[in-house]
Amino acid sequence: MAVLENKISVRNLCKTYEMKGNSHEVLRNMSFDVRENEFLVLLGPGQCGKTVLLNILAELEQPDGGEIVFAGGRPRMGEIGFVFQKYALFPWKTVMGNVEMSLKLRGVDKETRRAAAQEYIDMVGLSGFEKALPKQLSGGMKQRVGIARAYASEASIMLMDEPFGALDAQTRYQMEDEILRICEKKKRTVVFVTNNVEEAIYLGDRILLLSSRPSSVKEEYVVDLPRPRKHTDPAFLALRNRIVSNTDLNI
Ligand SMILES: Nc1ncnc2c1ncn2[C@@H]1O[C@H](COP(=O)(O)OP(=O)(O)OP(=O)(O)O)[C@@H](O)[C@H]1O
Ligand SMILES: [Mg+2]
Repeated sequence: MAVLENKISVRNLCKTYEMKGNSHEVLRNMSFDVRENEFLVLLGPGQCGKTVLLNILAELEQPDGGEIVFAGGRPRMGEIGFVFQKYALFPWKTVMGNVEMSLKLRGVDKETRRAAAQEYIDMVGLSGFEKALPKQLSGGMKQRVGIARAYASEASIMLMDEPFGALDAQTRYQMEDEILRICEKKKRTVVFVTNNVEEAIYLGDRILLLSSRPSSVKEEYVVDLPRPRKHTDPAFLALRNRIVSNTDLNI
């Protein structure tokens, strides 16, 4: 197998919030690499700083210390796709309007961006809902729009913040399979955040287990199980037990 280049190198990231005279340390010397085209899962407990970390990767927030190095230099606007923990769709825009947004912002002409957005709407299984508004969609459908929107930006890096956390178990399993199918079709570097150990093993090429706050990388697990993975496979369960025994958290 070819040696994969690091797409992102994160070194010694630190982040502390000051609130009413109290320091609230969230990230402490967080370091890791993300390889080109890998599906990296960050597995961590609630409130450990997962969203803060993704926001820093997307430059929506600044760290207090440390650095992030991107292969090929700092990504330009639109080169990072973000699937938010809460759907974050524009409520007044249709499915098509939401998905084509980033292309519109980049000045892509209407015909081209419509065709591109349609491909991603079809890919996430929302054909026929192009004209629907977010309020007319279920949670799973809204998150499909979020995924289509992130992919339509043609970003090479996809940051996904617990995208399936708000979904019922059945829809969640379905969406996990969908995201793997999409990743197979459209190779991207994915950083996927979850607090669910089964989801991490089901999806990830590699898992980084994060400690509770102040958070840093506690352990790395390479998931070399063949796909499609089965939750009942003894190797799957053995890895699950290894991860769970490495944490005092209920995940
Ligand atoms: N702008 C902010 N100002 C002050 N504190 C903040 C800010 N943003 C986040 N925090 C704090 O940082 C900690 C980590 O928040 P974050 O949202 O990253 O957690 P998380 O791991 O994503 O949790 P969850 O699993 O619930 O989504 C929390 O304790 C939160 O209160
Ligand atoms: Mg979060």
